[in-house]
Amino acid sequence: MKNIVLFASGAGSNAENIALFFKNRPGVKVSYILSNRSDAGVLQRAKKLNIKTKVFDKEMFFHSDKVLYFLKELSPDLIVLAGFLWLVPQKIVEAFPGRIINIHPALLPKYGGKGMYGRHVHRAVIENGEKESGITIHYVNDKYDDGDIIFQARCPVLEGDTPETLAERVHRLEYEHYPRVIARILEKRQSPG
Ligand code: GRF
Repeated sequence: MKNIVLFASGAGSNAENIALFFKNRPGVKVSYILSNRSDAGVLQRAKKLNIKTKVFDKEMFFHSDKVLYFLKELSPDLIVLAGFLWLVPQKIVEAFPGRIINIHPALLPKYGGKGMYGRHVHRAVIENGEKESGITIHYVNDKYDDGDIIFQARCPVLEGDTPETLAERVHRLEYEHYPRVIARILEKRQSPG
């Protein structure tokens, strides 16, 4: 059984979409959802989906090996960030080489980096008069939005778009593609080790 561990800080609609996608697929399951916020919407969704959760704080993530050891115990085939806002510490990146991916709601390398999340991204795209935006799925390294790009999909930026209307269009691309890209990565991969 291939095992996905999800990280999310927010509403968790992508996390839920991924969990539902794999629910009826033999051989892959979302074993855990981890969050840095005890009030994150993703935790309610996990409960409904019957997926175990763990909440951690800054101390556990950045200044101890607690989250690292927890992940090692879970032995994930893939760690999937879905709206997770903290930078992943180097020791975790190094412990899971090529096994941590993220989705970013714009066409990297533009509109990435610290502070570029959620509506900040969409506002910048609109203010700069971009004609298109989209999603980028990439490997995670120890810098924000910087690892090798795995997949991109595009959508138009329309006249009169607000950060909210653009976010909705980008979210649709995320729902369509993120689970499928994850499935493809897992198919290509041999068992962990
Ligand atoms: C998504 O747009 C994702 O690209 C970004 O954060 C958002 C998360 O939304 N990294 P949700 O929590 O999955 O609803």
